[in-house]
Amino acid sequence: GGGDTDMPTSLGFTAVPHSDADTVLIPAGYSARVLYALGDPIAAGVADYSNDGTQGDFDQRSGDHHDGMHYFPIDGSSSNGIIAINHENLTRAYLHANGPTDIDGVRPQSEVVKEMNAHGVAVFEVKAEGGVWSVVQDSSFNRRITPFTEMRLSGPVAGSDYAKTQFSTDGSKTRGTFNNCANGYTPWGTYLSCEENWAYYFHRDEGDDRGASENALLARYGISPGAAGNYGWTTVEGDAFQRLDITVKGASAAVDYRNEAYTYGYIVEIDPYDKTVTPAKRTAMGRFFHEGCWVGPVESGKPLVFYMGCDARNEYIYKFVSDQAWDSADADADDRMAAGDKYLGAGTLYVAKFNADGTGEWLELSQGVNGLSGDNTTYPFATQADVLVATRLAADSVGATPMDRPEWGAVNPVNGEVYFTLTNSSSSSSGRGQGGGGSLPVDAANPRSYDDDADGDSDGNANGHIIRWKENGDSDAVSFNWDIFAFGSPAALPANINLSQLDASNDFSSPDGLWFDDGGILWIQTDDGAYTDVTNCMMLAAIPGAVGDGTTVTTSSGQDSFVGVPPGDTLRRFLVGPKECEITGITMTPDRKTMFVNIQHPGEDGDVAAPSSNWPAASGVATDAGASGARPRSATVVITKDDGGVIGL
Ligand code: FEO
Ligand code: CA
Ligand code: CA
Ligand code: CA
Repeated sequence: GGGDTDMPTSLGFTAVPHSDADTVLIPAGYSARVLYALGDPIAAGVADYSNDGTQGDFDQRSGDHHDGMHYFPIDGSSSNGIIAINHENLTRAYLHANGPTDIDGVRPQSEVVKEMNAHGVAVFEVKAEGGVWSVVQDSSFNRRITPFTEMRLSGPVAGSDYAKTQFSTDGSKTRGTFNNCANGYTPWGTYLSCEENWAYYFHRDEGDDRGASENALLARYGISPGAAGNYGWTTVEGDAFQRLDITVKGASAAVDYRNEAYTYGYIVEIDPYDKTVTPAKRTAMGRFFHEGCWVGPVESGKPLVFYMGCDARNEYIYKFVSDQAWDSADADADDRMAAGDKYLGAGTLYVAKFNADGTGEWLELSQGVNGLSGDNTTYPFATQADVLVATRLAADSVGATPMDRPEWGAVNPVNGEVYFTLTNSSSSSSGRGQGGGGSLPVDAANPRSYDDDADGDSDGNANGHIIRWKENGDSDAVSFNWDIFAFGSPAALPANINLSQLDASNDFSSPDGLWFDDGGILWIQTDDGAYTDVTNCMMLAAIPGAVGDGTTVTTSSGQDSFVGVPPGDTLRRFLVGPKECEITGITMTPDRKTMFVNIQHPGEDGDVAAPSSNWPAASGVATDAGASGARPRSATVVITKDDGGVIGL
């Protein structure tokens, strides 16, 4: 539990500067190498990646867009383990020989299969020999999970009418997962992969009419009539592709795919130690655009809690509390998915409300509580399956606080406090305080809307912030106190915008990835479009204080809020990535001497004829600039300290 880790006192590296170079920049005294890049084989006998768009066997290779990941030690080892990693999305320009093709509105099946298999999750063994890490290509642990992989449905939505499809007439299973963003991991050794922008892969014809309440449900999740569906996958014939077209075509669910989308939007639990085990979608944890899933302090005899964000503008932060109290014997459970059923199969879901006085409340999302009944006018919450499938509508109904895009969360091992990135709300019309349709005014927890680029027009909350809270009591408390750990901002902006007094060594924009290592260092990763004219995306390290250690502030919008002590030298930039990437995904070995970090979508705005990044071609050493002309690849980088010490100290 919290309180058994000593707080580190200072960071042990020199901050790296802003950089727009096509390299991975790290502090002096550290080394970085590419471990696992787009297309790398993870099965025996599979050829090395040619990186020319001609290979199709992505069910045996690294997928694209590396995101959340976790290192699972083998027998506790810090030199041999299993990495589970999300492959969120694609940079299609570099995946095919000449970019994606579309022939009279129809995608070639071979390209679509490749694109689907480049999504999902990978599990693979890694090993360090003589200090050099590599992927064990022929390991029996290695596995790809794709949009085609069969999965079990768990929790209240399983078996409900929502889950009944042609594929599963009893609503017990579904096929695959896609757009897996951030992650989590459990005390019993499983990986949690989180379905984020899944809704945009579904097609729905103009004129598809489900009646008012179901239309409202689908629209609240971005699947309105006329939804095209990402990448034209539904232009391919065959059940495996047509299932993504949810248009009602006949009298019953037996003749169309109307319910397929109700089997997406969940936390997916995977056993990384046994590739024969079927993954489970944990519907009790809610259905939304899941960014990640982070366990709170683990204490014997207390329920387990998991914190989750829904990453879209004006969406919410959630907490799941298990029905079952934690039994530490389950840390060594032989049947890990049975432990998952025990703790993630049943529990209570809450959504956060942040009050203007620095307090907050967890509002329960249970059928029959807080007005969630069959009489609700927006959507009838007659069963808990209704509440869960329509989690966003239920959260609207109970009065949760809409946030500036909740991305990752992290739990401080020192004191159990919870941190969440709010990456930005920067639309020129519907961003925070912008006044257009969908725009919300500033409030205490989302207190900034300002002119980021000094052109006279507000840009909303262009740079984001990191909020944190302390539960009032145990993790399953229903109230908390909050403040803002740090506001993202270019150092040059005025003090009532740059409220955390950032300088050139630690200024940042659009915090996204967030993780506490076991030593209490907070790692912050960025996915930014507002500050990339000055610097590529980055990762910083922080030694945070505690909720309430700072002061009340008034922002340039005239909004009062609460900010932690300016971090000063306790926040430093550790890494800057290559061109047009985001930095996302981080894990370490148990000894904290090896760090794994993901570089996602370098060169995302270029094309085959003119790649806008060439990283990480050439020698494969991450700090080398890529060979001119080479196609860029998302990749996992492994970072070690040259003196063999603990990373960051
Ligand atoms: Fe996939 Fe919210 O980032
Ligand atoms: Ca502006
Ligand atoms: Ca993210
Ligand atoms: Ca992102």
